[in-house]
Amino acid sequence: MTNSGGPMSEAELPIELNRQSPVSLTAQVASQLRSAILSGLLRPEHTLPATRRFAADLGISRGVVVRAFEQLSGEGFLESNGAGGTKVAVRPDIQSLPLAEKQPSTSPAQAEVIDLTPGRPSGSPFKDREWRSAWKAAVSEQGHTHLPPALGTWALRESVARHLAVSRGLSVESENVIITAGTSDALQLVVAMLRGQREHPGILVEDPGYPTARRVMAAAGAQLQTVPVDENGLKSSQLATLRDIPDAVLVTPSHQYPLGGRMAVQERLGLLKWAGQHGVLVLEDDYDSEFRHTRMPLPAVASLPANAEVVLLGTFSKNLSPWLRCGYLVVRGDSGQRLKATREALDTPVAGVLQSALSHYIDGGGLSRHITRARREYAHRRSLLIERLGSREELELAALDGGLHVVIRFEQPAAADLAAKALDLGVRVIPLAGYYADRAPMNGLVIGYGAVTDLQLAEALNVLGQLIDGPR
Ligand SMILES: Cc1ncc(COP(=O)(O)O)c(C=O)c1O
Repeated sequence: MTNSGGPMSEAELPIELNRQSPVSLTAQVASQLRSAILSGLLRPEHTLPATRRFAADLGISRGVVVRAFEQLSGEGFLESNGAGGTKVAVRPDIQSLPLAEKQPSTSPAQAEVIDLTPGRPSGSPFKDREWRSAWKAAVSEQGHTHLPPALGTWALRESVARHLAVSRGLSVESENVIITAGTSDALQLVVAMLRGQREHPGILVEDPGYPTARRVMAAAGAQLQTVPVDENGLKSSQLATLRDIPDAVLVTPSHQYPLGGRMAVQERLGLLKWAGQHGVLVLEDDYDSEFRHTRMPLPAVASLPANAEVVLLGTFSKNLSPWLRCGYLVVRGDSGQRLKATREALDTPVAGVLQSALSHYIDGGGLSRHITRARREYAHRRSLLIERLGSREELELAALDGGLHVVIRFEQPAAADLAAKALDLGVRVIPLAGYYADRAPMNGLVIGYGAVTDLQLAEALNVLGQLIDGPR
């Protein structure tokens, strides 16, 4: 093969399909392309034929080729280059070397680190053609010489309402949507609104929980109170024993963060009843409910009938990227009016051009398609995690139902030591301890698998597995 980077003709691609085989055509195409890459027949930087042409030449539907390309992209073998086509990725050597031989020759800070920090989603939307055309449409709009509306552009508020109807089964009026610069901004807004009534409003948070939320709300002037929870979140019986009745309670009912269970329906109803009785505002952080791998998500607390006021906090950080700093609130009732007034007073931190691009992307179906692709990618990596770690008796795997991270718990070694050693070997993982506020933490790690390729994940899991085993 002499081709050193230009598009390959399909005649050069050694694909033979067996239509009688029980193996799907997608799996056959993916497997033969994978073998061609592993054998060196297809080299890094080679451009593959366009999916339409490739499919036509093989006499199969384009969807089969697209799915095979997506699978191999998820595994780190291919890289989509937007209009530039799909290329063979420059990938690390997949031969797994024994740990002793893997000591990096350069300092690990300089070497490439496989980053398993949670909260980092797949980077693929930025390579997406639909994403780029949404931005092109946004920057081509003329005549915007004014500030964007404080509550968000009407177009994006409508797009969010429609998206929530499809993705979450939520019936939301666009006028009840406030565009935010993500959850952190939304929480500052909530605290600012509550400070209109009390200088240091009390907010109850789950322990363990989302450390950034704790930091942001405390910095904004809230007085935090924690309640110990297990993976299924807050129990309504705990509310009766609280020291002080808070002004608001922040919960992650769809996917307790970080432990990963979900709040049972009777607990949700109990929470709403208590909140209604005491005038407590419920803040529902619905950060990743689009990514369910097993069970369907339960309906949002915000959709349940109640006397209590609920604010739903949504973000584009997980289903698109935290780089955008964009999210939304769904509000109602008196607290909704006060939140809107607070936002009007403070003005919006969200750029109009970003709101416009997002609205085009959502309305064109780009976001839904991206979520479908990302969900497939995450499901694949999640199964890799289960395959590699699930059978180890010394480990307990949790938070597997959905999202972009899992939690692994173990007795030995100490998670902080393990994380330090893993970093020396080029793998960044975050100990579970950092998620706890007032209680003794459990020993374990939170592993984000959103932003790595399958190959990187496999390599990182080898390192972690060997560190957990310790010297023999
Ligand atoms: C529990 C939780 N909520 C919300 C978010 C999103 O925050 P933001 O929208 O500020 O990026 C994250 C991100 O990691 C999270 O872990």
